[in-house]
Amino acid sequence: MYATELIEVTRLKPFPVRDIRPSTLEKIKKRITESGYNPARPLSVVKSNGSFLIADGNHRFAVIQELNIDKVPCVVYEEGHDPYALAVNGNQDEDTYAPMDLFDWLDLIAKLQDDGTTQEKIGERIGWSREKIKNHVTLRSKIGTEILVFAKSFQEGRVPEFGTNVPKNERSVTTCDFTEWWFRNSGLYELEADDQMKVMEWFCVEEKCKAAKKKLDEKVEYYKGIRSQLKMMEEQLSPEISDEKKAELFEAIHKGEYSDKRLESVIKQLNEGVKNKAKFGVDALEGIKSLSDNEVDVVITDPPYGVDFKSSRRTGNPEFDDSLGILEYFDDLCVELKRVCKENAHIYVFCGCVNAFEFKRILSKHFEVHDNWLTWVKNNHTPCDFKARYASKYEIIWFCTMPNGKERKLNNSVSPDVLEFAIPQDKVHDCQKPEPLLEYLIKNSSSSGEVVLDPFAGSGSTLLAAAKCKRYFIGFEKEEKYSSDFSRKYGDVCHD
Ligand SMILES: C[S@@+](CC[C@H](N)C(=O)[O-])C[C@H]1O[C@@H](n2cnc3c(N)ncnc32)[C@H](O)[C@@H]1O
Repeated sequence: MYATELIEVTRLKPFPVRDIRPSTLEKIKKRITESGYNPARPLSVVKSNGSFLIADGNHRFAVIQELNIDKVPCVVYEEGHDPYALAVNGNQDEDTYAPMDLFDWLDLIAKLQDDGTTQEKIGERIGWSREKIKNHVTLRSKIGTEILVFAKSFQEGRVPEFGTNVPKNERSVTTCDFTEWWFRNSGLYELEADDQMKVMEWFCVEEKCKAAKKKLDEKVEYYKGIRSQLKMMEEQLSPEISDEKKAELFEAIHKGEYSDKRLESVIKQLNEGVKNKAKFGVDALEGIKSLSDNEVDVVITDPPYGVDFKSSRRTGNPEFDDSLGILEYFDDLCVELKRVCKENAHIYVFCGCVNAFEFKRILSKHFEVHDNWLTWVKNNHTPCDFKARYASKYEIIWFCTMPNGKERKLNNSVSPDVLEFAIPQDKVHDCQKPEPLLEYLIKNSSSSGEVVLDPFAGSGSTLLAAAKCKRYFIGFEKEEKYSSDFSRKYGDVCHD
């Protein structure tokens, strides 16, 4: 079957089934230079068309060539012997210079597969069970090549500067004995290639290959969580969201800033923000001009009153002062309001008693104003000269519908025209209206998903009430200063 012969090196042909490791070459070279070639360690070669394929001993062969040795002892196998099987056997000998490691096995199996060998046949040739082969094939298919190359550079016995002789605790790079089992149980199979690489870098470099299984599992879970959040973002985020916003969200997800629940509410908030408009520092008329025809279901607004309160203190009678031209402005605004309202829209306009009929006169030019105004009865009166007049505890709300428009029914079966609601506490705006009152009007005049407009939004109370009722909102307010308080409150509404 085989014989040991001294064979000329020129007749040998390399058959490397695995990587040549520089550290192993160094070790062999040192050994041969110091004590000559050890005849007790012949190469295993297979006859092949007049030459000899080196099945086992490719590291030694490389050194022999470098040292110009003429002849080496070889165990010669007849033609037809399987060089792979011989290589595997030789490399598993106890005293082998470089035992086969995971990466060698993976390369060997890949080579055999490339030659068209089935998993079953590979198993027979290298003496492995079919399942063991399958597990290795699975590893290759689940873990990207560059990740394997990276892991290999930390594999025990391969890090060139050490060889295998330097004790682990004296090395500057810590190595790991990666196995198929290690990969199969690492959780890496469930990650995308990018994330696999991040985990490998963390494990090998940051953790110096020492991270315990629990810590590794946590790391894998972290990346799985981020991946599923990115998927959530992809599936749920409206395509209308700007690239800038998307990039911000992407970065925050990568930084692990959100729990799933929080992300869901942030996405919801962003999506609604595309439809919702709250523009501070914007003139009402200009803002409305930017809206499309027929997009509003309900208008609830509280225009600037133009009441000269100082004079009321002095004389005891508040006066309507339209030196700022509010009525003319409101007249122009109503033209635009009518354009953006649906033909069955409801319009509510808050007014103080001093100017209520001035506003009614203008509203009547554009809308059907219902004679029985709504009276908001407050829990407290507004300050005035108490000795001179009765303290006002109410405000008027004109309720209007579109002229000759289609009817929109009120949702309550009976809606009395006196509405009792407490003045809001912790006001940020002098004229801030109570959200429960606004919610009542919104719910009575619209359904979920419809659009509420307030062109004089002030603190944004109408918009917040709309958001709470799951209506979209559009609001304009010329003062920028109410913006931050509104954003904070809106964030809370979305988070609830
Ligand atoms: C009576 S307040 C509205 C208060 C609001 N309903 C609330 O609950 O906070 C009227 C608001 O209209 C704003 N305003 C006045 N003229 C405006 C204009 N031309 N465009 C937009 N907003 C204006 C004022 O700054 C004021 O905040």
